Formats: sequence, structure tokens, C-alpha cells
Amino acid sequence: MAFRHVMSSELNLILLGPPGAGKGTQADRLRDDFPLAYIATGDMLREARTEGTDLGLKAQTYMEAGDLVPDELVIGIAVERIQADDARDGFLLDGFPRTVPQADALGEEMEKLGRGITAVLLVEVADDEIIKRISGRRVSKAGRTYHVDYDPPKHAGRCDVDGTQLVQREDDKPEVVTARLSKYHEATSPLIDYYEDQGLLRRFDGSRSPVEVHDHIRATLATLRLEDEL
Ligand code: AP5
Repeated sequence: MAFRHVMSSELNLILLGPPGAGKGTQADRLRDDFPLAYIATGDMLREARTEGTDLGLKAQTYMEAGDLVPDELVIGIAVERIQADDARDGFLLDGFPRTVPQADALGEEMEKLGRGITAVLLVEVADDEIIKRISGRRVSKAGRTYHVDYDPPKHAGRCDVDGTQLVQREDDKPEVVTARLSKYHEATSPLIDYYEDQGLLRRFDGSRSPVEVHDHIRATLATLRLEDEL
């Protein structure tokens, strides 16, 4: 099978879950734990949009509507990024893959490179909680994430790390959030069975506090690494 767990010291992780489940929040913490290249296709597309590149302009309409950007636009940037120097010893994918064709493309590329995925970390949260989380989310220019009630910054409206003003993402408006959630259920949730069948899926209760979710992920990764060493 193309995409099996491969014994290796590399930690190649995928964060999977609905919008607002806390993937970015957990990624911030995991990046403090492990020297992993962080590859978030949503961030890459937002950057492309800000820079006004061809990709950014094409992606904009889809993102504003809460729709997925077409596979042919996203696959290329993601598979190129996992081959960059900083990703050779491990990566953390956030928001990719998001469709079965994206997962197939990633699997084929990993096989060509003789690498394997260590685990797919599924952060599960119910839809009603997602709406609360996304409506209160605020982000810094550098992409640090806060929540007005659940994870407030020390000074209202300012990033704890660089002091820049926090803003609400354009696609966090209620009508767009509903569209993003239904797209998740339709196009992305089939990846749960896809990775379960490959023995890669690890489930986490994302309704717990960020610290509890992080502790659980860390404990799971420690066990996986121990298994690799045996
Ligand atoms: P993307 O940027 O990937 O957004 P997303 O998947 O919708 O995920 P979010 O960033 O909204 O949520 P998150 O899970 O990271 O949650 P967070 O940690 O911020 O994608 C945006 C768009 O780009 C897509 O809609 C699509 O158009 C396009 N795109 C991107 N990748 C693509 C691809 N591969 N293919 C096609 N199109 C693609 O947390 C949310 C809030 O909750 C925060 O305020 C946080 O503080 C709070 N919070 C987090 N954890 C907890 C907790 N445990 N308890 C309480 N509050 C919490």
C-alpha cells in the first residue's frame, strides 16, 4: 500500500478535522515540541492572496465562499513544499490533504520519495461548538490564533508575541462558516475512513481544553515513537 506507516525517525504528521477544530492551535504547540516544518495550505493560500499572485487571485473566490480551492491548484504547492530542505526531517501538514484526490497525490509523492506518514491526528469537535469557536477567533498578522473567551490575549485585541492588532478572518463570517462545515462533511470527512483503513488515524477529543488535547497528542506521539524504536 502506498501510504503505510514507515519505520523512520522522521515525524511526518497530518492534522485533520473540521474548520475551527483547533488544528492551528495544536500546531502552534506541536511546533514548540518538535522541529517540524509547518505546512498549512490555508496560510499559504492567504499569503498568495495578500501578495496578489496568480494562485492567490484564483483561490480568493473559492475561499471567500467557504468552498475548497480546486485540487489542481493546491496539490502542486503542497507536494513541492514537503520536499523543501526544512521538511526533510519531518513535517506537520495542517489543512492538507482535504479531498481523496489530494490524499492520493500525497501518498504517491511520499512513495516516490521513499518516505511515510507517521500518523494522521484527527481533532473531533461537534458542529455547534465549531460555530462558537470560529465566531470568537481572532488572528495576528503572523498567524497566531486567539479566542475572545476561550484563549484571550493578555491585552485585548493585541498579539501576546508581537503586539500587532488581532483581526477576524474574512471567512469566519457565519454564512461562510456554514458553507465550510458542509464542505468538510462532504469532501474531507471521507479521509477519516481512508486513513483508518491504512492504520494511520489517531482520534482526539477536540472538545477538551487546548492543554488537554495537546497532552493527549504528545502522549500518543511518544508511544508511536517508542513503538518505532522497538
Ligand atoms: P484553513 O486556513 O485550513 O482553515 P480551516 O481548516 O477551515 O481551519 P481553521 O483555520 O478555520 O481552524 P483550525 O482547526 O485551525 O482551528 P483554530 O486552531 O484556529 O483553510 C481556509 C480555506 O482555504 C478553506 O476554506 C479553503 O477554501 C482553502 N484551503 C485550504 N487548504 C485547502 C486544501 N487543501 N484544499 C482546498 N482548499 C483549501 O481554532 C479555532 C478557534 O477555537 C480559535 O479561536 C481557538 O483559539 C479556539 N480553540 C482552539 N482549540 C480550542 C479548544 N480546545 N477549546 C476551546 N477553544 C479552542
